[in-house]
Amino acid sequence: MSPPILEAVDLVRDYRLPRRSFRHPPGVRHALRGVSLAVAAGERVGVVGESGSGKTTLLGCLSGRLVPAAGIVEFLTREGTVVDVLRLSETERRRLARTDWGMVHQNPRDGLRRNVTAGANVGERLMAVGARHYGQIRAAALEWLGHVEIASDRVDDLPETFSGGMQQRLQIARNLVTRPRLVFMDEPTGGLDVSVQARLLDLLRSLVAELGLSAVVVTHDLAVTRLLTHRLLVLRRGEVVESGLTDQVLDDPQHAYTQLLVSSVLHP
Ligand SMILES: Nc1ncnc2c1ncn2[C@@H]1O[C@H](COP(=O)(O)OP(=O)(O)O)[C@@H](O)[C@H]1O
Ligand SMILES: [Mg+2]
Repeated sequence: MSPPILEAVDLVRDYRLPRRSFRHPPGVRHALRGVSLAVAAGERVGVVGESGSGKTTLLGCLSGRLVPAAGIVEFLTREGTVVDVLRLSETERRRLARTDWGMVHQNPRDGLRRNVTAGANVGERLMAVGARHYGQIRAAALEWLGHVEIASDRVDDLPETFSGGMQQRLQIARNLVTRPRLVFMDEPTGGLDVSVQARLLDLLRSLVAELGLSAVVVTHDLAVTRLLTHRLLVLRRGEVVESGLTDQVLDDPQHAYTQLLVSSVLHP
């Protein structure tokens, strides 16, 4: 088998809680308690768990934005070298984040630049990977707006003039235009109305399949993992309690917590 493009071993991350008084020692919240995960090229791995289970913290550690107390994260670059994500300089980490990685935030405002147009939001990422020719950048931006079903006459509009669903589609275009080798998604449909969610999910599913993207998708919504991921990890209070092929885990959950998650979706 080909080596994983992302591998994390035994990630531990605590948050220090504010001291409540002189007599109380500062508290600690264990957000990750030894989480390991590997993503093969072209594979999409889902991480599910209820709110507070550590999903966002995990993505932060995997992409080197948060430093875990312990653990290793390694990424295989397109040049074929393995980099130690947690020991990258800030400059190197940002370079990877702009080129090899994509990051789709739950709130599109966190992933878009609000003071530049839709076209520039997409074009900017291309420039980060070396594109210089204005006409080509604009053509690629227009093509990608088309892929995410944004009309071409909106190319010069600011993101804030877009609906929530359109902003999320724009964020996806901005991330995928450079064909990143790995995409991190945090609740990609989380902030949207149910009707908009279904359409976005459909669009995302066809895009990730067409591009053969590798991704880590964290969500509390099992339907999202069913449609987007091959494999699934179930996170509970910072620990992986179950993992396996997505359909197997969802259709025949073994751990009581997974059974609860699955049944609460079936019987809301
Ligand atoms: N900056 C922070 N300071 C203190 N506690 C935090 C912070 N961020 C997250 N936590 C806590 O860590 C745990 C995991 O949070 P998070 O990773 O955001 O979970 P999820 O994304 O699954 O909702 C939760 O108990 C949360 O309250
Ligand atoms: Mg979260």
